[in-house]
Amino acid sequence: MRMMSQDEISHIRSSVDIVDVISRYIPLVPKGRNYFGVCPFHDDKNPSMSVSREKQIYTCFSCGATGNVIKFIQDYENVPFLEAMKILADIAGISLDLGEIKKQSNHNHILFDIYDLSFKFYHNNINTAFGKKAKEYLKNRDIDESIIKEFGIGLALKNHDMLFQLLSSKKYDLNVLMKSGLISRNDMGYVDSYYNRIMFPLWDISGKVVGFSGRIFNGEQDMSKYVNTRETEIFKKGELLYNYHRAKEEARKENKVIIMEGFMDVIRAYTIGIKNVIAMMGTAVTKEQALLIKRMAREIVLCFDGDSAGQKATLSCAEELMKIGVTPKVVSLEADMDPDEYIKKYGKERFIGLLENPMNLMDFKLSYFKKHKDLSSDQDISKYIHDILGELTKMDDEILKELTIQKMSQEFGLNPEFLKSKLSDQTEKPVLKLPTVSRKLNKYDKAQMYLLYYMLKYKEVIQLYNQEIPYLPTERYRNLAFHISYYYKINGNIDIASLIDQFENKEELLKTLGEIDQLNLKENYTMEEIQDYIQVIREYDIKNGQADLERKLKEERDIHEKVRIANEIIALKVRREQYD
Ligand code: CTP
Ligand code: MN
Repeated sequence: MRMMSQDEISHIRSSVDIVDVISRYIPLVPKGRNYFGVCPFHDDKNPSMSVSREKQIYTCFSCGATGNVIKFIQDYENVPFLEAMKILADIAGISLDLGEIKKQSNHNHILFDIYDLSFKFYHNNINTAFGKKAKEYLKNRDIDESIIKEFGIGLALKNHDMLFQLLSSKKYDLNVLMKSGLISRNDMGYVDSYYNRIMFPLWDISGKVVGFSGRIFNGEQDMSKYVNTRETEIFKKGELLYNYHRAKEEARKENKVIIMEGFMDVIRAYTIGIKNVIAMMGTAVTKEQALLIKRMAREIVLCFDGDSAGQKATLSCAEELMKIGVTPKVVSLEADMDPDEYIKKYGKERFIGLLENPMNLMDFKLSYFKKHKDLSSDQDISKYIHDILGELTKMDDEILKELTIQKMSQEFGLNPEFLKSKLSDQTEKPVLKLPTVSRKLNKYDKAQMYLLYYMLKYKEVIQLYNQEIPYLPTERYRNLAFHISYYYKINGNIDIASLIDQFENKEELLKTLGEIDQLNLKENYTMEEIQDYIQVIREYDIKNGQADLERKLKEERDIHEKVRIANEIIALKVRREQYD
């Protein structure tokens, strides 16, 4: 997979300074030993990201994002590892031939090639005599030549095996062709999966064609309006957003991104000059997509279809975004229209007017939950208030909660204190996960984290860990400790920025590392402190062992076995007294 050697990676990484690199993207201000800036990875106005020149890592105190300079570039630029290395090599003035590396490292390049060739084939078709009817259809939908070109719209011909002939003339392996989803097999042999459809290319986040959505256009009946290519190694619907690569720059410039349901909506928006727009393509937003969206811009506007499916999608998308700390705004379209129809009916100015005045999410919810309710009936009022209280428990903005409660109490003549007491009754846990720093830590978490904190700084502490502790009780701390100890074994020192390069299962480890780095404990440790942590960790082992044994004791039927277990518990208790 990764064709660069660890040495090459370290060489490039250590040839740049993380403070200089991050300063290229966001302003950093020195404060104490670290530099601070506004974190680009979550919705923030405060300088909660710290960058350490000494450790060559960054950590956000608020969202927990953390990593070394490579990770920063990958996440900020949304590029894969090798491309991030290329960017860093450029900054460092080191020549790095990515072209070659890319070919070797990308075992999916054949699929990319097949898609690229098919894309050119389909796009060319629409400009031939065979494309006349398709162009007429598009013209009727106000899609002109320049948009056809910009969005690479193409045509699959009526003939059932034109693409197959082209691809097989290039000697592609039949299995790979089948795997691509563009070729299928039936009684007649190999045939094109698509025929007689207008083909809309779908791109991955770096802008490579990885799939198609084919639309009927001859008024066919009993057929799916759109058919998407099947998922492959390069096409995962839940990981891409339609038009992402084109919208990214514009969204960054305007600090605003608009999300729609369908790609025709995006294309229409584009025709009236709105370019910071992406589409979900009719699926529920995934965690990956939500994170991508979050990094695109600070302001996120959901502009889904006006029908009830669109409103539901608005709620579920908003919910997913709120889980990662982003509250979107909402444009709600009247009368079951989608943005495409709205723009065609009411024109550019009116649509832009809507976009400039999006609703707050809470106001959207207030009106959404009112629908289909008869607010002259007490029962419906009660339902409505329950709905809204349920929504409020998911939020962490205390001021907004207060304002909403005021609104409701005025509207329905209820005592605000009463509503607040109902709010705290709602058992549902808040959906929004608070940043890890503010999580309540028990003493076992603390002991493990503090120990890890000093393991990341001092090899002497790693040695102590190696000698004294067989096993950290909590899995994620255990994994991090394992990586630190292993790194030390190989390298004889500890260097966080390069340790990060060795992480597998990066996200989890990085998150844990970030949590620990944020602790900001004092610089030096004392031997007693470390011994304390070790003792607490051992005590945990013992206590937990006891709980296990007590459960066994209860369940055990055999009297001899019961006695044996009871003796074990006593032995544990004796050991514990030594530590208490
Ligand atoms: N979609 C799909 N399969 C379908 C219908 C829709 O994959 N049978 C996806 C498409 O990605 C589409 C999105 O869901 O862009 C939204 O669907 P819809 O609102 O029906 O699409 P429109 O953009 O309104 O399409 P058109 O205007 O061409 O009818
Ligand atoms: Mn639509």
